[in-house]
Amino acid sequence: MSGAWAGWGDGYVTDIAYLPGYYPHQSPLHLNLACLLGGAAGLDLTPEHPISYLELGCGRGFGALALAASNPHWHVTGIDFSPAHIAAARELAAEAAIANATFIEADLSDFAEASRIDTLLEADVVTLHGLWSWVSDAVRSGIVRLIDRKLRPGGIAYVSYNALPGWQQAIGMQRLLHEVGRRSATRSDRQVEAGVEVVRTLIEAGAYQLSDNPLVRTLLSHADHGQIAYLAHEYMNAHWRPCFHADVVRDLAAAKLDWIGSAALLENFSPLMYSEQARTIMARFDDPGVRELIKDMCAVRCLRQDVFVRGARRLTATERDAALGEVMLALRCHPDQFSWEMDVPAGHMAIERPFFGPIVAALSDGPRRVSDLLALPDLPRRDNPGELVGILVGTDQALPIIAPPREPDAIVRRFNRAAAARFVRPDNFNTSMALASSGTGAPLPCPMLDLFVAARMQECERLDPEGWAKLLGRDQPDTEQQRLAAFIQRLIDDRAPLWRRLGALSAAAAP
Ligand SMILES: C[S@@+](CC[C@H](N)C(=O)[O-])C[C@H]1O[C@@H](n2cnc3c(N)ncnc32)[C@H](O)[C@@H]1O
Repeated sequence: MSGAWAGWGDGYVTDIAYLPGYYPHQSPLHLNLACLLGGAAGLDLTPEHPISYLELGCGRGFGALALAASNPHWHVTGIDFSPAHIAAARELAAEAAIANATFIEADLSDFAEASRIDTLLEADVVTLHGLWSWVSDAVRSGIVRLIDRKLRPGGIAYVSYNALPGWQQAIGMQRLLHEVGRRSATRSDRQVEAGVEVVRTLIEAGAYQLSDNPLVRTLLSHADHGQIAYLAHEYMNAHWRPCFHADVVRDLAAAKLDWIGSAALLENFSPLMYSEQARTIMARFDDPGVRELIKDMCAVRCLRQDVFVRGARRLTATERDAALGEVMLALRCHPDQFSWEMDVPAGHMAIERPFFGPIVAALSDGPRRVSDLLALPDLPRRDNPGELVGILVGTDQALPIIAPPREPDAIVRRFNRAAAARFVRPDNFNTSMALASSGTGAPLPCPMLDLFVAARMQECERLDPEGWAKLLGRDQPDTEQQRLAAFIQRLIDDRAPLWRRLGALSAAAAP
């Protein structure tokens, strides 16, 4: 048993807490887009419509709580079998006085059969991120039974997992880490250190399976940055097993789930992802499973983020375009910093300026509906709302929102302050987090350090980057604190306007 010396984890690491994080692809607003792009009906996301959101393996609950704080009329439930995770999630909820989130300590292998499941709301959306390929067959089958019982007909499921063949080069490495680790130490952090040390030594010894291997390099880079909790939860679980897409689709079919597409929106645009030759071969097959297998053979894709609907209602092209037209978008960056060119797996993408230029300019004045954007004068064409949404949201430059932003309410302010106080540390400034926001329904994705700076700006009467750097970097040398102060000043100049525009920071805060 790995890191499970307390004896209850069935081989899953239980002696070290997982890291907090926010994954925007789990947001119902984002999943709604993935459904529409895939030609399936999505959710009713009108402002007052209550959504019931269920997250399985929710860890410390940061993502679930960011969604709850941003959507007071939703009900959010997080389930995890780690009492330490559930206690931490409940503490954060209590501190922020979030009343619309519930955290349940339960083992997913048999929760579907527990009597207390009767009180669980039927879910519009179920998500599991970082769970499926890390747990045993018994847990996976419990997850399927739970989804079958509690995801409403027409509801959306998001399942991410380590994918094959993307992970095939790392299967030996994980086995080695796990076997060496569990024979070297009881604690899972020490198991990681022991396993990584043997990997490094074997590379020096010329071990063929470990040399010149990008996934081994990624492992060592995490180890060099001291990300031991991440490594323990990624590699030290007894049942770790990457999966082929078709096998996941088959397992989830038992809960009547239909696969729709990828939550990584650009992956749904084959010309951006695959060469023309590869697309010609895919086109020979009408079985979506075979097409996905060919895609997984061509792509550098280690994590799949699959979106399913429990009973997909297929839309006609007209219905789909009408539903996409209703989507409201907000720009996530300053228009001057909009990236017009980027590398994509199929080569280089230049975002078409004549079409997107007026759209980005309009969005820089505030959020707009897609149908309004397509009605702007001077557009060379008005035909493709899917492309508009897919490119802007898929490149992380726009965010789907429910309604225009408002001044952050008390819950949002308390949540951002409490999360900043709990989580921000000098060694995790780049962790992917989010600021809860009011009005939009969409937490604003951001790096960890932004949480600290936004919370300080909200709470303090005047800007004090030097003082804040001293507070945060109190154990660091002066030069490091000065560097941090300069960085905080840049965040205040560059990002705070966006936090204000998107309902995460009061207009009047620390002017
Ligand atoms: C890798 S973490 C991912 C956490 C979170 N979803 C995220 O992405 O940050 C997997 C989570 O699943 C939980 N977990 C593992 N096995 C479980 C089980 N049998 N029942 C319920 N939760 C489980 C763990 O405690 C852990 O919090």
